[in-house]
Amino acid sequence: RVLRPAQVGGNWKLNGSKQLVESLVGLLNKTEIPADVEVVVAPPAPYLDLVRSSLKKEVGVAAQNAYTEKSGAFTGELSIEFLKDLGIDYVVLGHSERREYFHETDDVVAKKVAFAAKNGIKVIACIGEKLDERESNQTFAVVDRQTKAIADALAPADWANIVIAYEPVWAIGTGKVATPEQAQDVHEHIRSWLKSNVSEEVAATTRILYGGSVNGKNSADLAKREDIDGFLVGGASLKEEFATIVRATA
Ligand code: G3P
Repeated sequence: RVLRPAQVGGNWKLNGSKQLVESLVGLLNKTEIPADVEVVVAPPAPYLDLVRSSLKKEVGVAAQNAYTEKSGAFTGELSIEFLKDLGIDYVVLGHSERREYFHETDDVVAKKVAFAAKNGIKVIACIGEKLDERESNQTFAVVDRQTKAIADALAPADWANIVIAYEPVWAIGTGKVATPEQAQDVHEHIRSWLKSNVSEEVAATTRILYGGSVNGKNSADLAKREDIDGFLVGGASLKEEFATIVRATA
């Protein structure tokens, strides 16, 4: 853990209300955060400011998307400059829901990742295969392709701002978690890809989180695996159970 402090992200997705935000922030403010775990929550954009201003400082805040221009005539977009202005530390990019429903290609994701990282916002960059891709033994090829697109857009120094989240699409919101072996296999593969294609240092220091049906029960076994540096949690991040996952990751 020395090279890669553990991290747990809570992706609230398109869920929230002022009331839910208050109750989740209340829970997080009461949660004791282990010294060796970095916790980050990603509320929907309209609540970023409220979450940042009411949440204790030791918990980071992430946006769920951001654009590749600082400002200008881009109606409806969210800029990195806004995030910096609000004191937001992170942005989640390339989530499979963005890729699937909003047609974000590898190239679009790579541009967003590079723009955020170069402009001083840390990125949780999501990759992962679909069920048919796993069943046709394409898992490594898919994560290699997605990682390469991102790596090609980054300069060596940008990697300090990158966390990778491996989220197999078949495990997201399905209750069908990857086994610790399945997740470890892919994490190890991603790390060795980084070693061969980026650098030994980036491979050793870049955190690789697992996401997909993580809960209070399955997190401890997953967290024990060498290349699993933490989690990106969806559904369970909207519940008290999130605190159990944070503890299990320490
Ligand atoms: O980004 C986290 C996510 O996609 C996993 O969602 O609900 O399966 O934990 P969930």
